[in-house]
Amino acid sequence: MLHTLFYPALLLLPLWFTSTSGRCVFDEVQQSVRVVTQAEGSTSTQIGGTSSSRAAKQATAIHQHPHQTTRGTFPGHLQSHRKMGRALTAMSPIRIHTWIAQESATLSEVDRERLALALNHTVSIVSTLLSVRHIPGPLLLSRDINKYCKFLWRNVSAANYNRCGRVNGSYRNENCLSVVIPDDHLRGCAVFHHPDAPDRTELRYDGAGLNNTDFLLYVHIHNSHRCSTQPSMLAYAAHCQSDPQGRPLAGTVVICREKLRQEKYRHEATVQILIHELFHMLGFSRTLFNTWRDCLHTLQAGGECHRHGRVTNLDDKGHMRIYTPSVVRALQKHLNSTDPTLGAPLEDLDADSTGLSSHWEARVLLSSIMAATLGEPSTVRIDLITLAALQDTGWYSVNLSQAQSLVWGQDEGSLFGSLSSCHDNTSLYFCTGSGLGCHYHHLHKGECVSDPYLEGCRIYKPLANGSECWKEENRPESVSWSGEIYQSDSRCFFSNLSRESISHSVSVAGHCYRHRCTGLHRYQIRVSGTGWMDCPSGGAIEVSGYAGVVFCPEKILCSHALPATSLNTQNHGVFSVLGSSLADLKYSCVPHTTPNPEVTNGMDLLSPKPWQSAKVIAPVLLAFTSCLVIGIFGVAYKVLHSQVRVYAEPSDG
Ligand SMILES: *[C@@H]1O[C@H](CO)[C@@H](O)[C@H](O)[C@H]1NC(C)=O
Ligand SMILES: *[C@@H]1O[C@H](CO)[C@@H](O)[C@H](O)[C@H]1NC(C)=O
Ligand SMILES: *[C@@H]1O[C@H](CO)[C@@H](O)[C@H](O)[C@H]1NC(C)=O
Ligand SMILES: *[C@@H]1O[C@H](CO)[C@@H](O)[C@H](O)[C@H]1NC(C)=O
Ligand SMILES: *[C@@H]1O[C@H](CO)[C@@H](O)[C@H](O)[C@H]1NC(C)=O
Ligand SMILES: *[C@@H]1O[C@H](CO)[C@@H](O)[C@H](O)[C@H]1NC(C)=O
Ligand SMILES: *[C@@H]1O[C@H](CO)[C@@H](O)[C@H](O)[C@H]1NC(C)=O
Ligand SMILES: *[C@@H]1O[C@H](CO)[C@@H](O)[C@H](O)[C@H]1NC(C)=O
Ligand SMILES: *[C@@H]1O[C@H](CO)[C@@H](O)[C@H](O)[C@H]1NC(C)=O
Ligand SMILES: [Zn+2]
Repeated sequence: MLHTLFYPALLLLPLWFTSTSGRCVFDEVQQSVRVVTQAEGSTSTQIGGTSSSRAAKQATAIHQHPHQTTRGTFPGHLQSHRKMGRALTAMSPIRIHTWIAQESATLSEVDRERLALALNHTVSIVSTLLSVRHIPGPLLLSRDINKYCKFLWRNVSAANYNRCGRVNGSYRNENCLSVVIPDDHLRGCAVFHHPDAPDRTELRYDGAGLNNTDFLLYVHIHNSHRCSTQPSMLAYAAHCQSDPQGRPLAGTVVICREKLRQEKYRHEATVQILIHELFHMLGFSRTLFNTWRDCLHTLQAGGECHRHGRVTNLDDKGHMRIYTPSVVRALQKHLNSTDPTLGAPLEDLDADSTGLSSHWEARVLLSSIMAATLGEPSTVRIDLITLAALQDTGWYSVNLSQAQSLVWGQDEGSLFGSLSSCHDNTSLYFCTGSGLGCHYHHLHKGECVSDPYLEGCRIYKPLANGSECWKEENRPESVSWSGEIYQSDSRCFFSNLSRESISHSVSVAGHCYRHRCTGLHRYQIRVSGTGWMDCPSGGAIEVSGYAGVVFCPEKILCSHALPATSLNTQNHGVFSVLGSSLADLKYSCVPHTTPNPEVTNGMDLLSPKPWQSAKVIAPVLLAFTSCLVIGIFGVAYKVLHSQVRVYAEPSDG
């Protein structure tokens, strides 16, 4: 029996979580897939018999190995790129259609519900962010001519040049990764018996296709070999078909069956992995970087988009970076740098021989949704740099104003995350040694550790369990000698506070105390048995009844001049899965650095006038304006970095 459930739209991806740092195998999987590129004129504008004859007119091009350009052998494909300018229709939110593959394992009611919710949530987030030119009429995928055809007519002057001359009798079906594509989703195909004569035999007729679909996501629930050999794997994916402009049209995500079943299943983590995989399939893929198109300043003019050409290059330290205009600009904004060579660095640990990876360098863009490993869900962000990259594919219009502040490395300058700077023991983000402290969001206690992706740099990672300050159930059974309080407004503070009755001195570690914001980077804290005390950002305070001090973190806490409570509920909508319901950090207010026009000069890999795109600049300016008020306001709250004696008020219980 067919198990074909429809969900509005959705996607998947391979990931892993928390300390069991699994890794995303997308590149490996994508490498094994033959991507079918539709020929120009085969997009679903025709219906019925005409489309199959049109489709057959030009050979379907295949990229057998993403890194080898096989296009030259398929003249039809070359032609397809000759004309990209056609009537540009407006961009509308992408319609992602999810299709549960028939091959999928049967699921229990509970697991099916989990899957449906995760897919639904994923699709709704992604379609809020990305817009495309809608495909008119039903989406029909193309068949791989190299599969159904034994040979093509090769006489260039013949009428049936590059059409199928003889059918491959063993041809059965088309696949997308491990999924057999239903015939109903596919265009027909025909064989031409003579190089010049019109007589043809239809091998297959066009299917009905899928209405209202811009991307078809096949979902395969399966306990595959990859799933069973890599226990941390939740899902993996690849795209398998693109339109003539190179935009991916269909892909498959394999979701490891056991992961849906497990007791520790987490909706947030699953959705994040699915978004990560979907972003890969939609264009954030090393096999696609060089097919990204520069449409920024042609969109309004109605002109043609052209290829960026090569968008990746090595920096002077030999690190591969992406240098497209919106990406450079986004990273400059994030790090508060005007460095013109600030391309966004790609992960070197999973790079191929040419240095390309489909992930950001973890040390620089740690909590990005497109880092190679995703951390604790509450810290993962759909950041501006990732959205800028999707914008620079040229296939999408991206609502950049919905980017979530990365927090990690904010305003730290262009050298942030370099191997030479991460051992600085005054860093707010990296740590040295192996002590206990606070994760940089201050929501969790953490332990100073490294992992392969950090390449020797160390950060405070959340403890395996019980590290969330905001979770009441983490409260220890016995009275805390350090005055800890675990509740929703609690955060992690470096401190060596201990009740005066304790005689031994204690070392500084992460402890949970309540906090409330009183202004930009201005807050009060509360320790067990005390009232609210000002905690000057960057300073430290003593607390009566306790020995030792509490250090007051800079920058991270109260980065909006709003009380934490209202931040928790504001403007999260579909993004609540990304954990921002717990973070008091959203879009941060970085003074907008004037773009340096020299950024592109002398870098022929970039397009000529990257800053002229109103599309990119407008949201950035808007964000700036809305933050300006807070920024100016914030100056009035300059805090002395001094130790302040605080007399505790009696506890109100
Ligand atoms: C998925 O979302 C659609 C609307 O976006 C809704 O009608 C449907 O009930 C949702 N499915 C589940 C399982 O939540
Ligand atoms: C014919 O199709 C089969 C199955 O898809 C494939 O294994 C075989 O290589 C094809 N033969 C030719 C000549 O294309
Ligand atoms: C190629 O096709 C043309 C036109 O049909 C024909 O005149 C010519 O002889 C063909 N060449 C070969 C090598 O078959
Ligand atoms: C697509 O929409 C058209 C027009 O509304 C309709 O006739 C057709 O049956 C639909 N196709 C499918 C596959 O739903
Ligand atoms: C972008 O997102 C913001 C915030 O959700 C929304 O207000 C705005 O209308 C969106 N812009 C577009 C062009 O969709
Ligand atoms: C950004 O950099 C400028 C120039 O170096 C500096 O004056 C400014 O304070 C920085 N802004 C932030 C938020 O760090
Ligand atoms: C930080 O590093 C400096 C120089 O390496 C060292 O003198 C200092 O003691 C270190 N501070 C801490 C708190 O480890
Ligand atoms: C973590 O949880 C496990 C199982 O619930 C428990 O046995 C263990 O003691 C906990 N570890 C910490 C540090 O709380
Ligand atoms: C707490 O730490 C501070 C700073 O490291 C140190 O000066 C102080 O002596 C410590 N106090 C106790 C009671 O350990
Ligand atoms: Zn990935």
